[in-house]
Amino acid sequence: MKDLIRIKRNGEALPRSAIDRWIHGVTEGSIPDYQSAALLMAITLRGMNDEETVALTDAVLHSGSLLGWNGLGRPTVDKHSTGGVGDKISIALAPLVAACGAAVPMIVGRGLGHTGGTRDKLEAIPGFRTALTAEEFSAQVRRIGVVIAGQSEELAPADGKLYALRDVTGTVESRPLIVASILGKKLAAGASGILFDVKCGRGAIMETQEEARELAKDLTRVARELGRKSRAIITSMDQPLGLTIGNASETAEALQILRGLAPPDVTELTRTLGAMMLVLAGVARERHEADARMDTALGSGLALQRAEAMIQAQGGDPRVTVDPGILPRAPVETKATADRKGYVTEIDARALGMLLVRMGGGRERMDQELDHGVGIRLLRKVGDLVGAGDAVAIVEARREAPDWADEVRRAYSIADQAPTPKPLIIEDSGR
Ligand code: URA
Repeated sequence: MKDLIRIKRNGEALPRSAIDRWIHGVTEGSIPDYQSAALLMAITLRGMNDEETVALTDAVLHSGSLLGWNGLGRPTVDKHSTGGVGDKISIALAPLVAACGAAVPMIVGRGLGHTGGTRDKLEAIPGFRTALTAEEFSAQVRRIGVVIAGQSEELAPADGKLYALRDVTGTVESRPLIVASILGKKLAAGASGILFDVKCGRGAIMETQEEARELAKDLTRVARELGRKSRAIITSMDQPLGLTIGNASETAEALQILRGLAPPDVTELTRTLGAMMLVLAGVARERHEADARMDTALGSGLALQRAEAMIQAQGGDPRVTVDPGILPRAPVETKATADRKGYVTEIDARALGMLLVRMGGGRERMDQELDHGVGIRLLRKVGDLVGAGDAVAIVEARREAPDWADEVRRAYSIADQAPTPKPLIIEDSGR
C-alpha cells in the first residue's frame, strides 16, 4: 500500500494488478482505513487514466457476486443519480417503471458529502430493510419486478467500504472514484440497461456543465467497455429538488409522485427518466408510448401497488404510502423568513445539504446513526415572489433552532427582478 500511495501521489498510473490487490484487501478488511483514505486522496488529487478507471470499476464489480437475469421474461433496467439535494426520485421511479413492464434491480447508496442517499431515505420507513442477501434480492426481482437495496457483503462490498470512507475524507469529488462506485454496484446488480442522471449545479457533486458532461461521458464509456447499454442525461441541481430535504420527509414526498401529488419539478424529472428507462429497456419505442404506459400505471394505481409490494417485501410498513404520519418527524419547527420583498432568485442547495448533515440527517463520521426525522421544508422556490418577513422554509429539528433557520434564510437570494427560468433537463448526452 505504501508503494501504491507513493505512485499515485507522484501522479503515475497504477497497474491493474495493484488496483486488484487494493480492492481485494479492502473487501477482506486487511487494509487499514488510513491507507485506503490516503490512496483515495491521491486519486482525487492526481486522477486516473481511462485504463485505470476501467480496472478500478471492474475490481469493485468483482469484489462480490454478479447477478444475472436469464429467464426473467422481461427486460431489466436501472437508473442512478450522481447525487443531489432533495433528489428522492428513485423511490417512486423504480416501482413506476416496474409497473410498466420492465424489471428494476436497483442498488443505491447512502448520503455522500452534502448529497442525500436513497438508502438512507428508505430506511426512514419503519422496518424497511436495505441490506438484502443476493438470494433475497434476486427472489424479489423475480417475484415483484422491483427491489431497491444497498450494496452488501455479497454485492459490490468494496464500494460499501470505499463509499463510507470517501464520505468523511473529502474524496467525494473524484471522477474515477464516482465512476467505479456507481458502475461497480450497478453492474453487479446486472440490469442490461442503465440510465445515468448526472446532476449539475451548486447542489451537485459536479458544479459546472463541463464537469457534468465529462462525468456523463466517462460513465457511458466505461459501461460500454464493460458490456452494458447506457444513456446519460444532465439535469439541474441549482436548487433542491421538490419541497423537502431530509430522509423521512423526502420519502413521503417521493411516494406522492405515485398519487400525482408531487411538486412539478419532481414529477417532470420522474416522468422524463421513466420514459428514458422504458425506451432503454425496449418496453416503449419512443417518449409518447412510454408516457402512455406511465399514465396507465399511475392512473390505475398499479405503480402505487408495486411500491407497496416492494415496501412490504423488504419488511417496511406499506401503509406509509397513504399515511406519511408513520414516518419519524422531528417535533420542533422553526420558520426561516425572507429579510426583504422580492423574487427568490437562488436557493443554495449545497448550503442546505450541509446544514442537514449538521442537523443529524447526514454523516460527519462513518459510524454515525442518522436522525431520519430532521429536515428542511421549502415553502418557496426559485421564481416565487415573497414579502419581507414571509416564511420561506421550515426547519424541522429536535430543538429550537434559530441559528439553523438563519442559515436557511441566508441560503435564499432575493432580488427585485424575477430570475430567467432555467430548464430542469439541461442536456441529453445520448448513448
Ligand atoms: N453515487 C454513487 O453511488 N457513488 C458516487 O461516488 C457518487 C454518487
